[in-house]
Amino acid sequence: MQLAMISDQIIPYTDLDPNYLDRGTFFGDGVYEVIRSYNSNIFTLDDHLERFGHSLDQIKIIGIDIDSIRQKVLNTFDKADIPNAKIYFHITRGSEPRKHAATESLKPNFFMTITDLPDDSAAKANGIAVCTCPDLRWKRCDIKSLNLLPNVLARIEAEEKGCEEAIFVDENGLITEGAGSSFFGVFGNTLQTAPLSANILASITRKYVIKAGKDLGIKIAEESLTPQHGASPDELFLAITTKDIVPVVKFDSQSISNGKPGAKTKKLIQQFRTFI
Ligand SMILES: Cc1ncc(COP(=O)(O)O)c(C=O)c1O
Repeated sequence: MQLAMISDQIIPYTDLDPNYLDRGTFFGDGVYEVIRSYNSNIFTLDDHLERFGHSLDQIKIIGIDIDSIRQKVLNTFDKADIPNAKIYFHITRGSEPRKHAATESLKPNFFMTITDLPDDSAAKANGIAVCTCPDLRWKRCDIKSLNLLPNVLARIEAEEKGCEEAIFVDENGLITEGAGSSFFGVFGNTLQTAPLSANILASITRKYVIKAGKDLGIKIAEESLTPQHGASPDELFLAITTKDIVPVVKFDSQSISNGKPGAKTKKLIQQFRTFI
């Protein structure tokens, strides 16, 4: 008799809820997005949907109508009625008995949550600590894939060191990005961040930070930083949808800009607000 066990309960395999056979659970075989709203307005929905389409294409989940995803997001956001919301959704290749190569006709699974965004004012006002970590991820970090084990392990390591974010350093000694954020350094009037490539996620916040920098007359250098750069900038910050710009005041135990959020970072936070 074919059986399954869920926690301590043995049930007939044929009674199993298909959600337990989701390829997202078995293989991380899916892609996701995180979007936010400010004061009841969803921020940069089109950018996120475009990136989601890219992720789906790249892992060959076909036939998803992006407009229908837009409608799902808008309808559920409307119902949730949360002014400052975190909108998370993913699509997996579908559910079936575990095997590596998926059945072609499988129906993809969609999942979404809309929840309150935690208050990030302390991190914005005081800055956060980060530490470097080897970048152990795969070679397609431009895909927002559900496979996040290296990111999870890096965050655990960072938390153990009393840091809020892990900054990945690749095998060439270059900083790629944070475990869940883009990484920026300010050197004089230049804002520096890694160039877009398969090694990093095309962060939507990164795109608007660069726009904010240009609007303020700051030079933009899309060139990788090294940990040595990271330890000696005028200012550092992270960019991420759920918090937009977060000042970094400690890098590998070294104090940055006297342990306080820098002036340019504060200006960029203000300029970013004009896009909302
Ligand atoms: C690895 C990684 N880089 C960068 C980002 C920032 O991307 P975005 O600005 O689109 O939130 C994220 C966000 O989750 C991420 O996971």
